[in-house]
Amino acid sequence: MAGAEIFNSDEVRAIADVIERKMIHRYGSHDSRGGIYRAEDFEEKAKALTGSKYALALSSGTAALITALKGIGIRPGDEIITSPFTFIATVEAIVACDAVPVFGDIDETLSLDAASAERLITPRTKAVMPVHMFGVAADMDAFTALGRKYGIPIIEDACEVVGGTYKGRALGSIGTCGTWSFDPNKTLTVGEGGMVFTDDHDIWYRMDCYHDHGHIHSKEHDRGAEGKFGLGVNYRISEVQGALGVVALEKMPAALAALRASKKKIVDAGAAAGLTPRPMHDAEGDTATHVIFMLPTAEAAKRFQAAAKEAGAGCAIIADNTWHYAKHWQALAEMGGREYFGNRTPSYAPETMAQAESLLSRAVMFGLNIRMSDEAVDGIAKAVRTAAKASL
Ligand SMILES: Cc1ncc(COP(=O)(O)O)c(C=O)c1O
Repeated sequence: MAGAEIFNSDEVRAIADVIERKMIHRYGSHDSRGGIYRAEDFEEKAKALTGSKYALALSSGTAALITALKGIGIRPGDEIITSPFTFIATVEAIVACDAVPVFGDIDETLSLDAASAERLITPRTKAVMPVHMFGVAADMDAFTALGRKYGIPIIEDACEVVGGTYKGRALGSIGTCGTWSFDPNKTLTVGEGGMVFTDDHDIWYRMDCYHDHGHIHSKEHDRGAEGKFGLGVNYRISEVQGALGVVALEKMPAALAALRASKKKIVDAGAAAGLTPRPMHDAEGDTATHVIFMLPTAEAAKRFQAAAKEAGAGCAIIADNTWHYAKHWQALAEMGGREYFGNRTPSYAPETMAQAESLLSRAVMFGLNIRMSDEAVDGIAKAVRTAAKASL
């Protein structure tokens, strides 16, 4: 899952071109840049791939989430329902907007369960944020229906699933807004970067201005004279990231094909040995960055982990993952049950995440790289077979 593994002379050429032209800013200098806008090219390519009407490149996936929340008008004290199984950035983005994270349960695919989210809706709920975790889509039909029923925006955290789909539609392009990340741990990286999608012009316009100090981005004027739309921040990307992004998206189909081929071998080996692969709402759209098997009990998962390690392939039990599971976030626990911008936060006590605990403590996970030799993939498959025997 570390995108730099596929860097080669393509990225060197893309960066060299930006440096040689000395045109590093994505905005302004319209008369002297020869009509070349690499960050815009990155956005155009992302739009073409997803079918989204608007795409805005940003400095990180976290920035993309915050900008999406600002774009839909999230205010202090608003409640946002999300998953307790996510990277901590999802919740940091909510808290950065002084909004209240509220955790639903997860379903057997390990994604936010739409029915549990519905039970948590209050008049304060201003968004629902499903997260597509470790390559796999949340149940977007259910979230789309939920959003329509209650008139609540659905913000897809698709930071981990660039290129993934749900029933043929690109993840990130289905909700009111959706976000991608290109950080150094992602399959495709531009160093640091993100993207936010929407089909709504007004949301895009607010996001576009907000992410760059309120600039209205008119090519008719010099940057300093183009006018302001409220206050913002600086979450811009540079032309270097834009140029890298174009290359990354060109490489996406081959990267996904390689991951999917490796994953299939390992999943098939596990299934043949009696293991249950993580269920999916749409297996075809899986970006295949991770292989997850669901063991019958937490004890069986521990036995599997030990036996797989012994057989030469390390795997993680997801419940132990301190960055991706809310149970471990002390800072959040300290916020629990407090007055918060005119609202009160949930307790965030571990017992409120019982369903997540029962699933994640049985989930064993192998991370995959794009470039894996046949020997490496076969080695994991063999360890999976051995560990299945030792644990089932
Ligand atoms: C689910 C999820 N959301 C948000 C982010 C934040 O992305 P970034 O690291 O680009 O800020 C990540 C990154 O790991 C993520 O996995």
